[in-house]
Amino acid sequence: MPKITFITSDGAEHEVEAQVGQSVMEAAIDHGVPGIDADCGGCCSCATCHVFVDEKWRAEVGEPVDMEADMLEVHDDRRPGSRLSCQIPVRDELDGLVVRVPEFQM
Ligand code: FES
Repeated sequence: MPKITFITSDGAEHEVEAQVGQSVMEAAIDHGVPGIDADCGGCCSCATCHVFVDEKWRAEVGEPVDMEADMLEVHDDRRPGSRLSCQIPVRDELDGLVVRVPEFQM
């Protein structure tokens, strides 16, 4: 099972075991990671699952697709590495992934 570390704005690290095929958002929800609300349930329409992908993981995670990019576009706090975690499928290659939860979601 791939391990994913969520770092919240207070610096706390939440390492969770994710299942291949679920989304990074679902892994966060399953383990009660604070700051990932996922109000729309993963439909790419709320942006309350926003994360900043750690720089060294950005190439492996990839860029947002069109609909996700549109949602992120309206965010003033969009930064390099911004992704909606419901749009990142967990794969074995993402074992060790590190993402940060934005302060505005805490
Ligand atoms: S859960 Fe709503 S956009 Fe990701």
